[in-house]
Amino acid sequence: GLKVAVIGGGSSYTPELIEGFIIRAKELPVDDIYLVDIEEGKEKLSIVGELAKRMFFKAGLKTRVHMTLDRKEAIEDADFVITQIRVGGLEARARDERIPLRYNVIGQETTGPGGFAKAIRTIPVILDICRDIEELSPDAWLINFTNPAGIITEAVLRYTNVKTIGLCNVPIGMVNNVAKILNVDSKRVRIEFVGLNHMVYGKEIYLDGKNITSTVLKKLSDSALINMNNIPDLNWDKDFIYSLGMLPCPYHRYFYMTDEILEEEIKAFQSGEGTRAQQVMKIEKDLFEKYKNPSLDEKPKELEKRGGAYYSDAAVSLISAIYNDKEEIHTVNVRNNGAISNLPDDVVVEINSVISKTGAKPIAFGKLPIKINGLIQQVKSYELLTVKAGVTGDYYTALMALIANPLVPSVKIAKKILNDILVQNRDYLPQF
Ligand code: NAD
Ligand code: G6P
Ligand code: MN
Ligand code: MN
Repeated sequence: GLKVAVIGGGSSYTPELIEGFIIRAKELPVDDIYLVDIEEGKEKLSIVGELAKRMFFKAGLKTRVHMTLDRKEAIEDADFVITQIRVGGLEARARDERIPLRYNVIGQETTGPGGFAKAIRTIPVILDICRDIEELSPDAWLINFTNPAGIITEAVLRYTNVKTIGLCNVPIGMVNNVAKILNVDSKRVRIEFVGLNHMVYGKEIYLDGKNITSTVLKKLSDSALINMNNIPDLNWDKDFIYSLGMLPCPYHRYFYMTDEILEEEIKAFQSGEGTRAQQVMKIEKDLFEKYKNPSLDEKPKELEKRGGAYYSDAAVSLISAIYNDKEEIHTVNVRNNGAISNLPDDVVVEINSVISKTGAKPIAFGKLPIKINGLIQQVKSYELLTVKAGVTGDYYTALMALIANPLVPSVKIAKKILNDILVQNRDYLPQF
């Protein structure tokens, strides 16, 4: 059987993953799961680890759950390494969300300056983890969930030899949402996805192989909503959806509805509800109270309040597709390799890919339609500059990254935000 290492094992999402392994136990035999955390996450790790043990026990499985602060022990000879870390914890996320808001800029953990800050904190750590994989389990697959997932995957592919696939629950969430709108089983829905992480578009939508894109878009502009729990529920403009002719992802609201989203963020902040990080702190506290209960032996329903719904489905079905050489189609973050003809071969894109034991092969898409090409090119430039800044710690590259981000309005604001980010993250930026 397999050895799986989960880095950031104390995450409240871990029971979600465990459920995925339980559901697929027949096709994916896991002998050992190592949950790895750091000193600060020790208590969460033990609560989640004990719950994981009870879940496997209830399912009648013999999978051993190990909890450890020794990353090397976990990575050695692992078949799959899953990374779901949050460098600096939710406190750092709250700062990421608040800094831009002070300057009337979107405060979000993965897009805009917040995502930039999270990226430069995370890059040194993820590269360090990859050094361990290169040394101790060079054949292992790294499944990266750590946000900003596209940028982190880009860093790993550029600066390490680790075989990696980046994963997000947005595409699978969109498929499930479309199925719900149509009132059909999600297995009957297929979407041709193209773009970048948290910037992915559903180019065509099929039901039982029949193209139903315009039907879905019509419903969408008649007020059906496709969203994630962590994003304000704002409806799309009818005329925008009609002229786009594609399904935007929930995160596109930050780019196409910037003023309205900003208003929502400011409202939440001023009402005392706080930024998403502050809301998540409360949800997490309740969750861990639940997890502690020794009679709980399944994933509690409250976990659905988090934005990561279907997370485990995405991860474990992907791992199974690799392990069982399924040649199945999944939407993942992978090296472009010519699939999108007007992006460089060596950049990471989020796209439908054939998954087999050799990894993810992106399916040829062709040229990005002109309607979405500009935004994608600009955000990719921002991402590449962010990776470079995260690796080198060069101030000017960091500044240019922020200036290139479409959510940052000017050089003056970029400088102020960057200064705040560098000061407030000093402890987590050894490269600067
Ligand atoms: P969390 O803070 O609850 O969990 C992360 C865990 O990682 C914590 O227990 C923390 O102590 C630990 N950790 C931090 N630094 C570490 C290190 N260097 N080594 C090992 N462990 C470390 O955070 P969360 O809300 O569960 O999210 C975890 C990560 O997954 C975040 O980066 C988040 O953005 C990401 N995420 C991604 C998706 C996606 O769609 N790709 C979905 C959900 C969450
Ligand atoms: C979505 C995204 C993730 C993101 C999460 C945030 O699922 O795809 O990338 O991290 O939501 O959820 P949270 O509950 O932490 O705000
Ligand atoms: Mn093995
Ligand atoms: Mn995501």
